[in-house]
Amino acid sequence: MKYLLMIPGPVESPDEVIEAFNGQTIAHYGKEFRDLYLETTQRLSKVLGSKTVWSFLMPGSGSTALETIGATFCNSRNCLIINNGHFGDRLYDIATRYSSKVDQVLFEVGQSVNLKTVENQLKKKKYDLIWMVHVDTSVGILNPIKEVASLAKKYDCEFFTDAIASSAIEEIKMDKWGIDGIATSSQKGFSCPAGLGLLTVSERLIKTIKSLPAPKSWYSDLTVWVDYYHDWNDWHPYPVTLPTNTIKALAKSLEILETKGIENRLALHKNVSSKLIKSVRLLGLDTFIPENQIAHGLTAVNTLGKFNAPDFVGFIREKFSIQIGGALDDKMKTVVFRIGHMSEKQCQTRNLVSVISALGVYMKSKNMAVPLDEAISALL
Ligand SMILES: Cc1ncc(COP(=O)(O)O)c(C=O)c1O
Repeated sequence: MKYLLMIPGPVESPDEVIEAFNGQTIAHYGKEFRDLYLETTQRLSKVLGSKTVWSFLMPGSGSTALETIGATFCNSRNCLIINNGHFGDRLYDIATRYSSKVDQVLFEVGQSVNLKTVENQLKKKKYDLIWMVHVDTSVGILNPIKEVASLAKKYDCEFFTDAIASSAIEEIKMDKWGIDGIATSSQKGFSCPAGLGLLTVSERLIKTIKSLPAPKSWYSDLTVWVDYYHDWNDWHPYPVTLPTNTIKALAKSLEILETKGIENRLALHKNVSSKLIKSVRLLGLDTFIPENQIAHGLTAVNTLGKFNAPDFVGFIREKFSIQIGGALDDKMKTVVFRIGHMSEKQCQTRNLVSVISALGVYMKSKNMAVPLDEAISALL
């Protein structure tokens, strides 16, 4: 069965991206592919608001890039994790595998990050780095990385973020905001097949990378990648075999993004998000996260106990061939479902209308009188 993917990643790709992805395997080295790789790294840096040449396309997934931050930068150092969701837990889990000196500022799942609480922790202890998730996909919250990066600067810490669910969806100004490292992946905002962990690191960190404690791993040790960049730059500036098809897809996706303009893309997500919130509310439901902290690439809908969320997730898959996401956290499982609008395709009106129509039909089948016409009109 072919489902319409309205989950918060992975997403379906535009035809041009799939065309770039298709085709025979080519060598991952040699001038031609090396040039495409380096050009793509520069395009990635640019989308993230940086001039750094230090972007890395690593075979794996977003977690490969997270693991590399853990192994290279958290390793044996004083780390502070800011955590308000499932993926914040993951950062803590990774960091504690590499360092015994990890603290976290822990908020309830989906609760907004209180900057005063973060600053109080920074006053208490000197940290080498702060690490937090930009958009926690488990609940669809947008976290204040700009403000926390500024606190990191004030307290002389490095600042890293997991932007796996926010790259090419939310505003990110890496250089301007003083972010030192961004981990992301190919399969969400970049609308490519899965297969790449993407890591972008500031120039200032690369300059000092050799002074860090040596990691126990090889693949996730960024100094290995930096060494290959220097030593084999003219033909193979990375240490491993690369998924050339996925990189060709990413190159095309970034080219499209550049042509259409990143600002236009961010505006699309904001617009869709606000329409969807309105539509869901007209059906008598609400968002799990308050509107002023909501992420723009997915909406976690709160059923307010009116029906069982997993039952609706099953209904829309079975009756409409549409896949949406359930909740990741056990406590929210029965009341939250998640709609992805991370790609241009997911943002298309016809696809959003399909999801809301299915929701209205489902609610009506449960004897709830809902103004479905109005809810659909809110999306137009
Ligand atoms: C915010 C966030 N962090 C980390 C991950 C893990 O990424 P991956 O599955 O690509 O390793 C995800 C995946 O959904 C995510 O949304």
